[in-house]
Amino acid sequence: MHFPWWYVPDLTSPMLIAFIAIIHVLIAHYAVGGGLFLAVETGFAYKTQNSTYLDYLKRHTRFFVLLTAVLGALTGVGIWWTIGLASPLATEVLIRTFVFGWATEWVFFVVEITAAFVFYYYWGRLPPKTHVVIGWIYGGAAWISLVLITGITAFMLHPGGWLEHRSFWVAFFNPQFIPQTIARTGGALLLTSLYVYLHASLTLKDPKLRDLIGTRSARPALLGSILITVGGIGWYLRLPESAQAVLASAAVLNVLIAIIFALTLIVFILLYLGPYRNPGWLSPGFALALFLFGLAAFSTGEFIREAVRKPYISYNVVLGNQIFPKAVPGLRQGGYLEGGVWPKAFVSMRFPEVIVDGKIDRSRLLSLPPEDRLLVGETIFHYHCNDCHATTRGYSPAGPVLTGRSRESILELVTHLDESHFFMPPWAGTEEEAQLLTDYLVHIAPPRPGGMIHREIVSEQDP
Ligand code: HEC
Repeated sequence: MHFPWWYVPDLTSPMLIAFIAIIHVLIAHYAVGGGLFLAVETGFAYKTQNSTYLDYLKRHTRFFVLLTAVLGALTGVGIWWTIGLASPLATEVLIRTFVFGWATEWVFFVVEITAAFVFYYYWGRLPPKTHVVIGWIYGGAAWISLVLITGITAFMLHPGGWLEHRSFWVAFFNPQFIPQTIARTGGALLLTSLYVYLHASLTLKDPKLRDLIGTRSARPALLGSILITVGGIGWYLRLPESAQAVLASAAVLNVLIAIIFALTLIVFILLYLGPYRNPGWLSPGFALALFLFGLAAFSTGEFIREAVRKPYISYNVVLGNQIFPKAVPGLRQGGYLEGGVWPKAFVSMRFPEVIVDGKIDRSRLLSLPPEDRLLVGETIFHYHCNDCHATTRGYSPAGPVLTGRSRESILELVTHLDESHFFMPPWAGTEEEAQLLTDYLVHIAPPRPGGMIHREIVSEQDP
């Protein structure tokens, strides 16, 4: 706990990452698949001397470069900002482990951007062959950056043998690397066709050209959905045991998994019946429906991928509340507040009376007046729980989930956090700190809603 806590009201900071990351992913997959699409299709248009298709491809490239280079880059940098603020320890571990991978990724990123601009601005001024080669350089560099970044994000779900052998290569070729690369490559192909359909149906009048685009882009999209399914099955089979258990036990994830299956099936059937068999169906409404189903399936998938890592941010490496698992026993002994640079500084400045010999005195914490106990309890909450729970409203808010619970039962929950739900990290403070956190939780938990039967009343009424 050597970093300050970033408090995002209602939403919690990790959910802010989730929002930005999902927008980024929806653009970044198109950035990869779109490169391959443009390389293949300009090659085809030159070969068949189809100048109307070439004109369309030029307009599509403009849309593509604007969207991916501007919004893609902005949200990409946005992810760096939010993860650095929300999960500084996990980010630090990733940077230390993968600095070489990231440097390589940025090189490919520069190649990508340069190739994209040359491809667009030198349109019609380059020999067709050279033009198509530039398209392939873009597509290839973009796909390699997908592979590189996937190795790093897959590591967070399953570090594999890295805990024993701390080498870059062991970290990169983790058990999740291949399944996720397959799924993301499929995702890039599928999502690109959906963007192409939407763009073409909205901007093209010529029905012949629309039909051509419908059939040409159906194959990569169908292939993409198959790759997503294959990669998804591999992802599931190679999940760490606890992540499989999370999937099986959390009701909301059960529902989301069912939704994902349904959406993928719908997209597949629509693709087959629509663009593949009946390209004439490709109206703006049809393309929009397909696009929205695709986005929904994607976003749900990313959400699940993030959710199953609990109680970790980086599996077995960094806990959700920004501490190393091996730090837990020490914090239980020496105190959670004492173990963190920032909470310690806060307590020392605000309540100098609890400091003895430069350390926070456990028992003096308990003799603080009630409103100060609440403030210390709230501080513990922010550092220990706010990664996954908002306070009184918003994302999984701690107050409402404790509605109507007694003080003993809340204290019991706090001290047995990981037993209450195995996807919560273990309690990492002293008994006194658990008391203060409980003060705060009791304070924010609403009373039992009126009109509900309570166990004491039930037993009184029993004959
Ligand atoms: C790594 C994430 C994470 C952290 C950190 C975390 N929790 Fe949770 N907690 C969860 C999840 C996930 C659930 C299940 C929520 C749901 O089903 O909607 C949960 C459930 C709960 C519940 C409802 C439990 C029940 O028995 O019904 C309470 C209360 C709770 N957490 C309190 C806390 C407190 C207090 C802390 C800090 C000391 C904390 N949590 C830290 C993830 C976390």
